[in-house]
Amino acid sequence: MCGIVGFTGNSPAVPILIKGLYRLEYRGYDSAGVAAFTKEGLEVVKSRGRIANLEEKIKEIGGMNATCGIGHTRWATHGEPSDRNSHPHLGGRGKVAVVHNGIIENYMELRQQLEAHGYEFQSETDTETVAHLVDYLHDGSNHSLAMTVLKAVGMLRGSYALGVVSMDDPEEIVAARRDNPLVIGIGEGENMIASDVTAIISRTRKYIILDDGEVAVVRPDSVVVMNAFGDIVEKKIQEVTWDLSAAEKGGYEHFMIKEIMEQPAAVTNTIHPRVKDGKINFEDSGLTDERLKNAKHVHIIGCGSALHAGMVGRSVIESLCRVRSTASIASEFRYENPIIRPDDICIVISQSGETADTLAAMRLAKQAGAYTVAVVNVVSSTIAREADGVLYLWAGPEIAVATTKAYSAQLAALYLFAVKMANVRGTITEEQEKAYCETLYTIPEKISEMLAGKEKMQYLASRYANRSSVFFLGRGLDYAAAMEASLKLKEISYIHSEAYAAGELKHGTISLIEQGTLVVALATQPALYEKTISNIREVVSRGAEVILITGADFDCDASCCSHVIKLPEIRQEMSASLSIIPLQLLSYYVAVERNCDVDKPRNLAKSVTVE
Ligand code: F6R
Repeated sequence: MCGIVGFTGNSPAVPILIKGLYRLEYRGYDSAGVAAFTKEGLEVVKSRGRIANLEEKIKEIGGMNATCGIGHTRWATHGEPSDRNSHPHLGGRGKVAVVHNGIIENYMELRQQLEAHGYEFQSETDTETVAHLVDYLHDGSNHSLAMTVLKAVGMLRGSYALGVVSMDDPEEIVAARRDNPLVIGIGEGENMIASDVTAIISRTRKYIILDDGEVAVVRPDSVVVMNAFGDIVEKKIQEVTWDLSAAEKGGYEHFMIKEIMEQPAAVTNTIHPRVKDGKINFEDSGLTDERLKNAKHVHIIGCGSALHAGMVGRSVIESLCRVRSTASIASEFRYENPIIRPDDICIVISQSGETADTLAAMRLAKQAGAYTVAVVNVVSSTIAREADGVLYLWAGPEIAVATTKAYSAQLAALYLFAVKMANVRGTITEEQEKAYCETLYTIPEKISEMLAGKEKMQYLASRYANRSSVFFLGRGLDYAAAMEASLKLKEISYIHSEAYAAGELKHGTISLIEQGTLVVALATQPALYEKTISNIREVVSRGAEVILITGADFDCDASCCSHVIKLPEIRQEMSASLSIIPLQLLSYYVAVERNCDVDKPRNLAKSVTVE
C-alpha cells in the first residue's frame, strides 16, 4: 500500500525523504514523488515506477534544496500508475501539497462541487480532491492549516492518512488519520511523519502514534496533536525496540531468504516468554481462564497467509479443546452476518496489524460482544490497540512482501492458545500440557534442521522453475499447509498454482493433470498417509511428477513419487510448522531462478489498508 514520509528540520530534507521512501518500498508501490519547499517555492517531482526514477528526475532538475517536505510511494487504486496520478498532488493555486494513503469514498461528489467552483483536476485520483478541498477551505480564511485540514477531513468519507504542506508556513507539516496508520517521529530539532517506523528509524527511535480523527501539526521544534474537536491531546512517546539491522538485508540477497532463515528465532520469541515450568502463561493477553472455559465458539479471522495460519489453528483448537472453531476470510466474515455470541472468542490474525478487512471484521466481532484477541507482529498497530487482548508475535520486522517468519510465529501463537485452552477446559491434563510445551520448545531447532536442507530445495527449484502450473495436495492440517505453500509459490514466482484437499481433486480438477505436471503432496498425518498416497497414485498415473513432504514415521510405499522429503519427528498437530519450511524455500528459489522481484512481487502490497 501507499507509503507516506515527511521531514521538517535543519538538514537537507529530500535525501531523508528518499531514504524513508526506500524503507517503505516493501509496502508495495508503482510510483513515487516528493514535494519540498525550495527557493522555487513549493516544488513537486514525481515519477511512475521505481524510486530510482524519481531520484533521476530530481538529479535532472539539479536537486532540491529544502529542509521541509513530504514524500509518497503510491499503490494505484484510482487511476493507472502514471506520473500524473502519482502523489503529492497540488491544490488549486499550487500553494498546498497533499500525500494520502487510503480511499476517499465520496471523492466524486466533492470533485463535482470543486469543479463547480472552478477547480481543474489534473489526475484521476481521489487524493487530488483533498488537495483542492484544503486549498478551497484555506483560501482567504484566517484559520491555520491544521484547522482547515480538520474541517476538510470532516467532509471526507472513507479512510486516510494524510500529509499536507502549505506555502503559508514552509516549516510545517500537518498530518491526519482515519483507519490508516501514521506515526510521528520525534527527533532533536527535527520531526517526521511516516506510514510506519521503518521510515524514521535512521533519524530517531522515538515516535507518537496518531489515532483516528486526530490532526497533528509537525514543526522542527514541536509536535502538537489535536482531536476532532480541535482540543490539544497529550500523546505517549513510544520507542522502537528493535535494531536498525533488523530492517536491513544483513548480507542476504533478499529480505525473504533472510526472514526464512530467521524463523527459528522468530518462533522462539513467540513461544519462550509464554512458557514457564511446563505451563503456558497468557497474562499479557487478558485471556483469563474463565473466558477460555466459557467460550462456545472460537472464531478465527485473517487474510491470505494469516488466514492459512488460522486454518491450522482452527483444526488444532477443535481437536485439542473440543470446542467449535471456524477460520474465516476477514473480507467475507464482515459481510456474512456471522453468528457471534458474547462468550465467543475471536482470534484476529495479522502480521501488520493494519489490514483493513481484518480490522473491520474484528470491530464487528467486538461490537457483537466477543472477546477479541489480536495475534499481531507490529507493536502498537491499530488491530493490536483495538483488540481486547494481544498476543504479540515478537518476530521482528518483516520486510519481504511474502510472509514467512510471521506465518511461522502465528502458528506458534495458535498452538500456545490451543494447548492453554485445552488444559483450562480439562481436555488435556497438566502432564499433557507439559509434554506439549516440551514439543513447542523443540520446534525452532527442528525448523533449523529443515533449513539445513536448503540446497536440495534449490536443486528442485532449478529443475521445476519452468513449470506453468503446480498443484499442492493435502488432507486435514496438510491441506491448510498446502494452501499456504501454494500462495507462497504463486505470489512470488507468478506460476499458476492451486491447493486442493487431496480427496477433492478427482471431482473436477484432476482433468488438469497431464504429462509432467508438478504436484507437491503433503502427508504428515499418520492416519491419512494411505489415503493421500492413493490420491498421489491417481495423479502419477495421469503423468504428474510428485514431490512428497511427509512425516518421520511415514510407512507407505512412496516409490511413485519423484522426490520425498521427510520431516523430523514432531507431534502431528504441529507438523505444519515444519512442512512449510521446504516449500517456502522451494518458492523462493523458483522465484530467484525466474528472475522475479522476490521481495516486491508485482501488484502486491505488504500492508493492505484498503478493502
Ligand atoms: C502472503 C501475505 C499476505 C498476508 C495478508 C494479510 O505472503 O503476506 O497474504 O498474509 O495480506 O496481511 P496481515 O497479516 O498483515 O494482515
